[in-house]
Amino acid sequence: MGFVGAAMTACVLFIAWKLLYACLLAPIKAHRKLRSSGFRGPKPSFPLGNLKAMKTRREIASSAGMSPLSHDIHASSLPYFADWQRSHGKVFVYWMGTEPFLYVSEPEFIKQMSGVVLAKNWGKPAAFRTDLIPMFGCFGLNMIEGKDWIRHRHIITPAFSPHNLKAMKSLMVESTTAMVDRWTAILDGSATLELDMEKEITALAGEIIAKTSFGMNNGDTGKTLLEKLRAMQISLFKHTRYVGVPFGQFLTLKQTLEAKRLGEEIDSLFLSIITARRKVIGIESQCDLLGLLLEGGNTDGKFVKELTTRELIDECKTFFFGGHETVALAMTWTLLLLAMHPSWQDELREEVGEVVGDGALDFAMLARLKKMGWVMNEVLRLYPSSPNAQRQARGDIQMGDKVIPSGTNIWIDIVGMHHDRDFWETNVNEFKPERFSEDLYGKCKHKMGYLPFGFGGRMCIGRNYAVMEYKIVLASIISRFSFSLSPSYIHSPTYFFTFRPRFGVPLIIKPL
Ligand code: HEM
Repeated sequence: MGFVGAAMTACVLFIAWKLLYACLLAPIKAHRKLRSSGFRGPKPSFPLGNLKAMKTRREIASSAGMSPLSHDIHASSLPYFADWQRSHGKVFVYWMGTEPFLYVSEPEFIKQMSGVVLAKNWGKPAAFRTDLIPMFGCFGLNMIEGKDWIRHRHIITPAFSPHNLKAMKSLMVESTTAMVDRWTAILDGSATLELDMEKEITALAGEIIAKTSFGMNNGDTGKTLLEKLRAMQISLFKHTRYVGVPFGQFLTLKQTLEAKRLGEEIDSLFLSIITARRKVIGIESQCDLLGLLLEGGNTDGKFVKELTTRELIDECKTFFFGGHETVALAMTWTLLLLAMHPSWQDELREEVGEVVGDGALDFAMLARLKKMGWVMNEVLRLYPSSPNAQRQARGDIQMGDKVIPSGTNIWIDIVGMHHDRDFWETNVNEFKPERFSEDLYGKCKHKMGYLPFGFGGRMCIGRNYAVMEYKIVLASIISRFSFSLSPSYIHSPTYFFTFRPRFGVPLIIKPL
């Protein structure tokens, strides 16, 4: 064998060893470490881990269907977690392919974990990062770690100051008023009108984030972005994904390539927006999110390394998606729940009348819409827009007598805790906004059992923005219309990374 042949053999052996280590030896080592720390769970198999059992269980649950209008979405959409909780408790290990995930729905465990790991020291699961690149890129706030996360969070935080939120309020009111005026025009004197609220509200939330964060006043670009994002979400989540399975992308090659293509198209749309904005720096005022990101090198007079073009694109994607989808879903589920509970519509209408009267809604009034706040909290308990939070241990985490080994992924089941009878009073699956009347945590027995906006330093950066938009939109709708469920509504909340109503939310609206 000549030199070239020997070098090639060495290369092949090296790659084979690397593959053997990554796909088999490292997972076996992690499995042993987790077991020796006392973490147990359902038995995995190679190479799918527990993915096959998850798929089968989900198919059985969806063919059995849900009882009509039930809010027990944890048991129906994530039935494997409900089963494994029964057999292994609220903290256990399951496997996505060759990646171990520590499942946690125990609030005390989350409290202890966040007591020993600082926000900047948490990682985000590498398996998801790769999978979600078309949607968030690698450098958006929710994906980055360590010093880069601190730098981005430092640059972005001022965008959500009360001063900036106040400035965004009028844009939110403008878009919402245009939507309800359009409904009135379509009604054109008729008594009622049927509308798919999911479509209406998603389009509105997309328009609002496009205007408030990126100064996009041309509705067409915002609409194109929304359409591409929705198509990408479908190609990423509609079919079984093989997250964590070695070479899993090749098993869903068509969808992977489709998501990649859409991701690149979204990148180039944002790149053209960024390029146009760069040209007017110093000429036009730039006090929205994109303006702050572009000026990121100099916040509060302190020097912070500027964001690169790649980082800017990924932040735009992150905020466009995170900033509209979450609020749109919270609003959509709210309208459904209020249609099912007309007495709560009356309560809110009365409150809006008392606080706002016949005048215009101003910023200071929003905090006085208390009952609306309880309704929002209860909707986010039953249908959390972010149903889980994920982390990855970047070093061994000592938890009393247990160690979470470095590299372990952690899956915090927010929706599971929100529906857990052990932490809530009776009627856990019922809509009872009054739970929040005297308690910010809805009388949950443990403060970490209610986490609609996450926890610790990585808590949602857009939560005040979200509450403001929610209250503006709901106050505008409720003061002009009453609404009820359309007979064509089919209740099928489906887990699509977030919980979406599979067949939309058709409601019948009636002008007041
Ligand atoms: C009802 C609306 C919303 C809900 C329920 C929600 C929920 C959450 C949750 C649970 C997290 C994860 C926290 C964690 O990993 O511990 C999060 C993070 C995040 N949210 Fe929201 N969110 C909402 C609205 C928004 C809006 C309007 C924006 C932007 C305008 C936004 C931007 C983000 C970002 C960028 C992160 C990552 C933060 C970080 O890792 O530092 N969210 N959100």
